[in-house]
Amino acid sequence: MRILLTGGTGGLGRELVRAAEGAGHTVRVASRRACPADAPPAREWARMDVETGDGVRDALAGVDAVIHAASDPRRHAVVDVRGTRALADAAREVGTPHLVYVSIVGIDGIPLAYYRSKREAERIVEGVGVPHSILRITQFHSLVDAMLAGFARVPLLFPVPTSFRFQSCATSEAADRLVRAAEAGPGGRLTDFGGPEVLTLGEMARAWKAARGIGRPTLPLPVPGGLAAAFRAGRNTLQAEGGERGTVRWEDWLRAPSADAAS
Ligand SMILES: NC(=O)c1ccc[n+]([C@@H]2O[C@H](COP(=O)([O-])OP(=O)(O)OC[C@H]3O[C@@H](n4cnc5c(N)ncnc54)[C@H](OP(=O)(O)O)[C@@H]3O)[C@@H](O)[C@H]2O)c1
Repeated sequence: MRILLTGGTGGLGRELVRAAEGAGHTVRVASRRACPADAPPAREWARMDVETGDGVRDALAGVDAVIHAASDPRRHAVVDVRGTRALADAAREVGTPHLVYVSIVGIDGIPLAYYRSKREAERIVEGVGVPHSILRITQFHSLVDAMLAGFARVPLLFPVPTSFRFQSCATSEAADRLVRAAEAGPGGRLTDFGGPEVLTLGEMARAWKAARGIGRPTLPLPVPGGLAAAFRAGRNTLQAEGGERGTVRWEDWLRAPSADAAS
Protein backbone atom coordinates (compact mmCIF):
# COMPACT_ATOMS: atom_id res chain seq x y z
CA MET A 1 0.00 0.00 0.00
CA ARG A 2 1.27 3.55 -0.73
CA ILE A 3 0.45 5.84 2.22
CA LEU A 4 0.74 9.63 2.23
CA LEU A 5 1.59 10.98 5.69
CA THR A 6 0.69 14.63 6.15
CA GLY A 7 2.52 15.91 9.20
CA GLY A 8 5.01 13.11 8.55
CA THR A 9 7.85 15.23 9.96
CA GLY A 10 6.10 15.88 13.30
CA GLY A 11 6.20 14.04 16.62
CA LEU A 12 3.47 11.60 15.66
CA GLY A 13 4.50 11.70 12.00
CA ARG A 14 8.00 10.34 12.63
CA GLU A 15 6.43 7.38 14.41
CA LEU A 16 3.94 6.96 11.56
CA VAL A 17 6.85 6.70 9.13
CA ARG A 18 8.45 4.00 11.30
CA ALA A 19 5.18 2.11 11.73
CA ALA A 20 4.12 2.25 8.07
CA GLU A 21 7.54 1.32 6.69
CA GLY A 22 7.86 -1.40 9.32
CA ALA A 23 4.57 -2.86 8.09
CA GLY A 24 5.95 -3.00 4.56
CA HIS A 25 4.14 0.00 3.04
CA THR A 26 5.56 2.60 0.69
CA VAL A 27 5.58 5.89 2.56
CA ARG A 28 5.27 9.34 1.05
CA VAL A 29 6.05 12.05 3.59
CA ALA A 30 4.27 15.35 2.97
CA SER A 31 5.95 18.48 4.30
CA ARG A 32 6.42 22.17 3.58
CA ARG A 33 10.16 21.47 3.78
CA ALA A 34 12.52 19.89 1.28
CA CYS A 35 13.44 16.22 1.58
CA PRO A 36 16.48 15.83 3.87
CA ALA A 37 19.64 14.64 2.12
CA ASP A 38 19.89 11.55 4.35
CA ALA A 39 16.34 10.26 3.71
CA PRO A 40 16.27 6.59 2.67
CA PRO A 41 15.94 6.29 -1.14
CA ALA A 42 12.79 4.13 -0.86
CA ARG A 43 10.93 6.88 1.02
CA GLU A 44 8.92 9.22 -1.18
CA TRP A 45 8.64 12.92 -0.37
CA ALA A 46 6.06 15.53 -1.39
CA ARG A 47 6.42 19.30 -0.85
CA MET A 48 2.95 20.37 0.20
CA ASP A 49 1.28 23.18 2.15
CA VAL A 50 -2.34 22.56 3.18
CA GLU A 51 -2.78 26.24 4.03
CA THR A 52 -2.09 27.50 0.51
CA GLY A 53 -3.03 24.27 -1.27
CA ASP A 54 0.38 24.20 -3.00
CA GLY A 55 1.42 20.68 -3.94
CA VAL A 56 -1.64 18.98 -2.41
CA ARG A 57 -2.97 17.33 -5.58
CA ASP A 58 0.49 16.14 -6.64
CA ALA A 59 1.12 14.71 -3.18
CA LEU A 60 -2.07 12.64 -3.43
CA ALA A 61 -1.34 11.16 -6.85
CA GLY A 62 -1.33 7.37 -6.77
CA VAL A 63 -1.74 6.90 -3.03
CA ASP A 64 -4.07 4.29 -1.52
CA ALA A 65 -4.45 5.99 1.84
CA VAL A 66 -3.65 9.28 3.56
CA ILE A 67 -3.02 9.60 7.27
CA HIS A 68 -3.70 13.26 7.90
CA ALA A 69 -1.65 14.36 10.91
CA ALA A 70 -0.67 17.88 9.76
CA SER A 71 -1.82 20.38 12.36
CA ASP A 72 -0.90 23.67 13.96
CA PRO A 73 -2.50 24.47 17.34
CA ARG A 74 -1.45 28.12 16.99
CA ARG A 75 -2.90 28.53 13.49
CA HIS A 76 -5.67 25.93 13.60
CA ALA A 77 -8.26 27.91 11.64
CA VAL A 78 -6.09 28.00 8.53
CA VAL A 79 -4.14 24.75 8.92
CA ASP A 80 -6.57 22.36 10.62
CA VAL A 81 -9.87 23.64 9.23
CA ARG A 82 -9.06 25.23 5.88
CA GLY A 83 -6.16 22.85 5.29
CA THR A 84 -8.30 19.77 5.95
CA ARG A 85 -10.91 21.14 3.56
CA ALA A 86 -8.26 21.61 0.85
CA LEU A 87 -6.86 18.11 1.39
CA ALA A 88 -10.28 16.42 1.49
CA ASP A 89 -11.52 18.24 -1.62
CA ALA A 90 -8.35 17.30 -3.49
CA ALA A 91 -8.65 13.67 -2.32
CA ARG A 92 -12.16 13.50 -3.76
CA GLU A 93 -10.96 14.95 -7.06
CA VAL A 94 -7.93 12.69 -7.54
CA GLY A 95 -9.63 9.34 -6.96
CA THR A 96 -10.72 9.07 -3.34
CA PRO A 97 -7.93 7.40 -1.39
CA HIS A 98 -8.90 6.34 2.14
CA LEU A 99 -8.52 9.43 4.33
CA VAL A 100 -7.59 8.68 7.95
CA TYR A 101 -8.02 11.75 10.15
CA VAL A 102 -6.11 12.07 13.43
CA SER A 103 -8.29 13.68 16.07
CA ILE A 104 -8.31 14.10 19.85
CA VAL A 105 -10.39 12.39 22.56
CA GLY A 106 -12.99 14.58 24.25
CA ILE A 107 -12.98 17.50 21.81
CA ASP A 108 -16.77 17.93 22.13
CA GLY A 109 -16.56 18.48 25.88
CA ILE A 110 -13.49 20.71 26.26
CA PRO A 111 -13.85 24.44 25.51
CA LEU A 112 -10.58 25.01 23.65
CA ALA A 113 -10.50 26.83 20.30
CA TYR A 114 -8.03 24.29 18.87
CA TYR A 115 -10.37 21.45 19.79
CA ARG A 116 -13.32 23.24 18.15
CA SER A 117 -11.25 23.37 14.98
CA LYS A 118 -10.43 19.65 15.28
CA ARG A 119 -14.18 18.92 15.54
CA GLU A 120 -14.81 21.14 12.53
CA ALA A 121 -12.14 19.23 10.60
CA GLU A 122 -13.84 15.92 11.56
CA ARG A 123 -17.10 17.25 10.11
CA ILE A 124 -15.33 18.22 6.88
CA VAL A 125 -13.87 14.72 6.56
CA GLU A 126 -17.27 13.15 7.29
CA GLY A 127 -19.13 15.36 4.84
CA VAL A 128 -16.88 15.71 1.82
CA GLY A 129 -17.70 12.36 0.27
CA VAL A 130 -14.39 10.50 0.59
CA PRO A 131 -13.94 7.06 2.18
CA HIS A 132 -12.63 7.89 5.63
CA SER A 133 -11.75 6.87 9.15
CA ILE A 134 -11.47 9.16 12.16
CA LEU A 135 -9.39 8.12 15.15
CA ARG A 136 -9.55 10.22 18.29
CA ILE A 137 -6.44 9.78 20.46
CA THR A 138 -5.68 11.02 23.99
CA GLN A 139 -2.75 13.38 24.70
CA PHE A 140 0.71 11.96 24.02
CA HIS A 141 3.17 11.32 26.88
CA SER A 142 5.55 13.69 25.07
CA LEU A 143 2.99 16.51 25.35
CA VAL A 144 2.61 16.05 29.12
CA ASP A 145 6.42 15.89 29.38
CA ALA A 146 6.72 19.22 27.53
CA MET A 147 3.96 20.74 29.68
CA LEU A 148 5.70 19.75 32.93
CA ALA A 149 9.05 21.00 31.60
CA GLY A 150 7.30 24.35 31.02
CA PHE A 151 6.05 24.49 34.62
CA ALA A 152 9.55 23.60 35.84
CA ARG A 153 10.96 26.74 34.17
CA VAL A 154 9.36 28.83 36.92
CA PRO A 155 12.24 29.62 39.33
CA LEU A 156 12.24 27.88 42.74
CA LEU A 157 8.67 26.63 42.55
CA PHE A 158 6.99 23.88 40.54
CA PRO A 159 3.41 25.12 40.10
CA VAL A 160 1.18 22.39 38.63
CA PRO A 161 -2.60 22.10 38.22
CA THR A 162 -2.37 18.82 40.11
CA SER A 163 -6.02 17.82 39.80
CA PHE A 164 -6.09 17.76 35.97
CA ARG A 165 -6.46 14.21 34.63
CA PHE A 166 -4.72 12.62 31.68
CA GLN A 167 -4.71 9.22 30.03
CA SER A 168 -1.68 9.91 27.89
CA CYS A 169 -0.24 7.40 25.46
CA ALA A 170 2.96 6.69 23.55
CA THR A 171 3.04 8.17 20.04
CA SER A 172 4.55 4.88 18.86
CA GLU A 173 1.41 2.98 19.88
CA ALA A 174 -0.88 5.67 18.44
CA ALA A 175 1.03 5.43 15.16
CA ASP A 176 0.75 1.63 15.06
CA ARG A 177 -3.02 1.96 15.60
CA LEU A 178 -3.34 4.55 12.81
CA VAL A 179 -1.43 2.38 10.33
CA ARG A 180 -3.73 -0.55 11.19
CA ALA A 181 -6.68 1.78 10.54
CA ALA A 182 -5.28 2.71 7.12
CA GLU A 183 -4.83 -0.99 6.29
CA ALA A 184 -8.34 -1.92 7.44
CA GLY A 185 -10.08 0.49 5.04
CA PRO A 186 -12.76 3.08 5.69
CA GLY A 187 -14.32 2.60 9.12
CA GLY A 188 -15.89 5.99 9.86
CA ARG A 189 -15.47 7.08 13.46
CA LEU A 190 -13.30 4.42 15.11
CA THR A 191 -13.12 3.43 18.76
CA ASP A 192 -11.12 6.06 20.63
CA PHE A 193 -7.51 5.21 21.48
CA GLY A 194 -5.71 6.16 24.69
CA GLY A 195 -3.06 5.25 27.20
CA PRO A 196 -3.34 2.40 29.72
CA GLU A 197 -4.14 4.48 32.84
CA VAL A 198 -5.78 7.67 34.02
CA LEU A 199 -3.51 9.71 36.28
CA THR A 200 -3.80 13.12 37.89
CA LEU A 201 -1.21 15.64 36.79
CA GLY A 202 -0.03 15.63 40.40
CA GLU A 203 0.76 11.90 40.14
CA MET A 204 2.41 12.45 36.75
CA ALA A 205 4.46 15.36 38.12
CA ARG A 206 5.73 13.20 41.02
CA ALA A 207 7.02 10.50 38.63
CA TRP A 208 8.38 13.15 36.25
CA LYS A 209 10.39 14.90 39.00
CA ALA A 210 11.82 11.56 40.14
CA ALA A 211 12.84 10.68 36.57
CA ARG A 212 14.39 14.14 35.99
CA GLY A 213 16.07 14.36 39.40
CA ILE A 214 14.12 17.47 40.42
CA GLY A 215 13.68 17.82 44.19
CA ARG A 216 11.52 20.96 44.34
CA PRO A 217 8.14 20.55 46.01
CA THR A 218 5.09 20.74 43.77
CA LEU A 219 2.86 23.74 44.33
CA PRO A 220 -0.76 22.74 43.53
CA LEU A 221 -2.11 25.42 41.21
CA PRO A 222 -5.83 26.18 41.39
CA VAL A 223 -7.08 27.07 37.90
CA PRO A 224 -10.56 28.60 37.51
CA GLY A 225 -12.81 28.36 34.47
CA GLY A 226 -14.53 25.86 32.22
CA LEU A 227 -11.39 24.63 30.47
CA ALA A 228 -9.73 23.68 33.76
CA ALA A 229 -12.98 22.06 34.98
CA ALA A 230 -13.03 19.87 31.85
CA PHE A 231 -9.49 18.65 32.47
CA ARG A 232 -10.24 18.07 36.17
CA ALA A 233 -13.27 16.00 35.15
CA GLY A 234 -11.08 14.00 32.75
CA ARG A 235 -13.16 14.77 29.66
CA ASN A 236 -9.94 14.17 27.71
CA THR A 237 -9.79 10.54 28.89
CA LEU A 238 -11.50 7.43 27.54
CA GLN A 239 -14.90 6.69 29.01
CA ALA A 240 -14.86 3.81 31.49
CA GLU A 241 -16.51 1.20 29.31
CA GLY A 242 -15.24 2.32 25.90
CA GLY A 243 -11.98 2.85 24.11
CA GLU A 244 -8.91 0.92 23.17
CA ARG A 245 -5.87 1.20 25.41
CA GLY A 246 -2.16 1.09 24.66
CA THR A 247 0.28 -0.59 27.01
CA VAL A 248 3.08 1.96 27.55
CA ARG A 249 2.54 3.52 30.99
CA TRP A 250 3.74 7.03 31.88
CA GLU A 251 6.44 5.68 34.20
CA ASP A 252 7.62 3.21 31.52
CA TRP A 253 7.82 6.04 28.98
CA LEU A 254 9.75 8.26 31.40
CA ARG A 255 12.34 5.50 31.74
CA ALA A 256 12.71 5.06 27.96
CA PRO A 257 11.36 8.11 26.09
CA SER A 258 13.84 7.51 23.28
CA ALA A 259 11.72 4.54 22.25
CA ASP A 260 9.09 7.09 21.27
CA ALA A 261 9.12 10.36 19.36
CA ALA A 262 9.18 13.61 21.31
CA SER A 263 7.04 16.37 19.88
N1 LIG B 1 0.26 16.14 20.68
C1 LIG B 1 -0.72 15.41 21.25
O1 LIG B 1 -0.71 15.15 22.47
C2 LIG B 1 -1.84 14.87 20.39
C3 LIG B 1 -2.78 13.98 20.95
C4 LIG B 1 -3.80 13.46 20.16
C5 LIG B 1 -3.86 13.81 18.81
N2 LIG B 1 -2.94 14.68 18.30
C6 LIG B 1 -3.03 15.03 16.87
O2 LIG B 1 -1.95 14.38 16.22
C7 LIG B 1 -1.58 15.13 15.06
C8 LIG B 1 -0.07 15.33 15.07
O3 LIG B 1 0.28 16.02 16.23
P1 LIG B 1 1.83 16.26 16.60
O4 LIG B 1 1.86 16.66 18.04
O5 LIG B 1 2.65 15.11 16.14
O6 LIG B 1 2.13 17.55 15.70
P2 LIG B 1 3.54 18.29 15.44
O7 LIG B 1 4.67 17.54 16.00
O8 LIG B 1 3.33 19.71 15.86
O9 LIG B 1 3.67 18.25 13.84
C9 LIG B 1 2.84 19.03 13.05
C10 LIG B 1 3.04 18.64 11.59
O10 LIG B 1 2.13 19.41 10.81
C11 LIG B 1 2.80 19.82 9.64
N3 LIG B 1 2.22 21.08 9.18
C12 LIG B 1 1.96 22.20 9.90
N4 LIG B 1 1.46 23.15 9.12
C13 LIG B 1 1.36 22.63 7.86
C14 LIG B 1 0.91 23.13 6.61
N5 LIG B 1 0.45 24.39 6.46
N6 LIG B 1 0.95 22.31 5.53
C15 LIG B 1 1.42 21.03 5.66
N7 LIG B 1 1.87 20.51 6.81
C16 LIG B 1 1.84 21.30 7.90
C17 LIG B 1 4.26 19.97 10.01
O11 LIG B 1 5.05 19.66 8.86
P3 LIG B 1 6.22 20.59 8.23
O12 LIG B 1 6.62 21.58 9.30
O13 LIG B 1 7.29 19.61 7.88
O14 LIG B 1 5.59 21.20 7.04
C18 LIG B 1 4.44 18.89 11.08
O15 LIG B 1 4.90 17.69 10.51
C19 LIG B 1 -2.40 16.42 15.11
O16 LIG B 1 -3.52 16.29 14.28
C20 LIG B 1 -2.86 16.51 16.56
O17 LIG B 1 -4.08 17.21 16.71
C21 LIG B 1 -1.93 15.21 19.05
